[in-house]
Amino acid sequence: MLGVSGASGAVLTEATVRRLLDLDVALDVVCSDYGALMWHQETDERFADAVKRWTARGRVTVHRPQDVAAPISSGSYPTRGMAIVPCSMATVGAIASGAGQNLLHRAADVTLKEKRRLVVVPRETPLSLIHLRNLATLAEAGAIILPPDPAFYLRPDSVEAIVDALAERILYAAGVTPRVDPAHTWTH
Ligand SMILES: Cc1cc2nc3c(=O)[nH]c(=O)nc-3n(C[C@H](O)[C@H](O)[C@H](O)COP(=O)(O)O)c2cc1C
Repeated sequence: MLGVSGASGAVLTEATVRRLLDLDVALDVVCSDYGALMWHQETDERFADAVKRWTARGRVTVHRPQDVAAPISSGSYPTRGMAIVPCSMATVGAIASGAGQNLLHRAADVTLKEKRRLVVVPRETPLSLIHLRNLATLAEAGAIILPPDPAFYLRPDSVEAIVDALAERILYAAGVTPRVDPAHTWTH
């Protein structure tokens, strides 16, 4: 499953989805209302049009954030796990409190209770103590916190190279791919 929330990072979401579609992974997507707003702001594309592009390419099911009765709300729906790319501090807080209010929060909650992989890609800087405490709560509950920090040691020569390396880290953390590219391994 892929969650998209209202933080900066549409380019990272796009790279992650593209890679998943390349791998022919079946994908359930839920994007918050603010996530859709941010998408339009950062790409000039409507999120609904991005969805059309993705569904034309692969096995993608998109759920409305208000639809808390969607299948991904249930632990019996078989998923490998979930990545939230990007994850706003509001969404981090909602999941950490256990008082989620939309389908994205619920799907993340279910992922944790079913002990499946939850990869949270938070995007905020600087982080307040509240943000840090909420992220720590998620980590204690089993989530993998994966800040979208550039791998400068790879000497990336473009934003695209940074983004692609991050998308690869997300897929690896989510258990979708083995770490295949030797250039992406940590050697020093
Ligand atoms: C232009 C813009 C950029 C934002 N960027 C971030 C961000 O990078 N990180 C973040 O945590 N919140 C950011 N926010 C605030 C969230 O969008 C806001 O807290 C919203 O309620 C998040 O809702 P959601 O988590 O349901 O998507 C931004 C808001 C706007 C309007």
